[in-house]
Amino acid sequence: MSDARPNSRLPRFYRAPLAERQAELARQVGLDENDLGLLASGGISVQDADRIIENVVGVYALPLGLGLNFLINGQDRLIPMAVEEPSVVAAASHAARMARVGGGFFAETDASIMIAQIELREVADPAAARAAITAAQQEIMALADGVLPQLLQFGGGCRGLEVRVLPDRRLIVHLHVDCRDAMGANMVNTVAEAVAPALAERAHGRVGLRILSNLADRRVVRVTTRIPFAALAGETSASGSSREVEERGARLARAIEAASRFAEDDPYRAATHNKGIMNGVDPVVIATGNDWRGIEAGAHAYAARDGRYRPLSTWRVESDALAGRLEMPMALGTVGGTLGVHPGARLALRILGVTTARELAGIIGSVGLAQNLAALKALAGEGIQRGHMALHRRAVGL
Ligand code: MEV
Repeated sequence: MSDARPNSRLPRFYRAPLAERQAELARQVGLDENDLGLLASGGISVQDADRIIENVVGVYALPLGLGLNFLINGQDRLIPMAVEEPSVVAAASHAARMARVGGGFFAETDASIMIAQIELREVADPAAARAAITAAQQEIMALADGVLPQLLQFGGGCRGLEVRVLPDRRLIVHLHVDCRDAMGANMVNTVAEAVAPALAERAHGRVGLRILSNLADRRVVRVTTRIPFAALAGETSASGSSREVEERGARLARAIEAASRFAEDDPYRAATHNKGIMNGVDPVVIATGNDWRGIEAGAHAYAARDGRYRPLSTWRVESDALAGRLEMPMALGTVGGTLGVHPGARLALRILGVTTARELAGIIGSVGLAQNLAALKALAGEGIQRGHMALHRRAVGL
């Protein structure tokens, strides 16, 4: 692998023939013929596929494109995106180019805390049971750690316990497990099953479900970006810009803020606004072999966490720039799960140059915010159909 940091500003990339694009990627990331062959064949053989799911009869490939221009926490990143929708990769790259004029994206991510839920039913006295379990917290957490020796070696383990009371004499115990660089579903489910009998005994109740929660609200990524007005208006050289360009950018910024406020005030619009974010998030989640159903479930549950469905990102006009902010759960792994058996997913991590799950979460949140910006900019201006249909016509060969 190349030691040099990739340069994600590749202005003529989209015009270059396929073979040249592949060669450029190989040069940037240090890929060899085998790697390129793997990319060209969908990232997985039918034999590997046969080890992953049941009743395999083939493999199903998606186009893999490269999101360009991404500057995230001061580092250039090439973004592998597996997606079937024309214009998604181009739009993300366009927004990332505007964002880099203002310094790019800044992402911070919580520790990799997943929640194991243990449901206890027919609890005779929920208040007393809650007190008993809280008093035994250290013991229960030690029990949980006892079934995760490997995770403990990597610095993870059980970090806390919370008890919630639901109607009909149900007690829900949450164990917070730091899964480090794994998504953690298997570990968390193992913990839930292991501690359930001890919890039921203390609660004088019956064990119900034992499973992780996909509302991973302790594993949240927060991303911000500032797009100078001139960049929004198309002036991306970061050199001085004319007053007219500034004014055009300011108008666009106000229109994007208005689009954001529409989503903030209306769940029907918020759903579509968030779909635009997931247009950026899912392709990278898929390319890196992560569980996109879990990410989707977590995103939408988080969007509705106060009882009303809201946008995962907001945009506001500041003095000379448009400021964007995204916050959403991001339960991902860079080890374990599919990554152990999917060579294409491992290659995508190499292209990204990430090793930790938190780093990956920051990148994916940034792509989500970029995608959202591109959609709002188009919607606030000429509408999305002209650009979208041009790329769609290219896709269907018209
Ligand atoms: C289309 O795939 C996504 C958009 O509808 C998102 C949005 O409306 O914000 C353009």
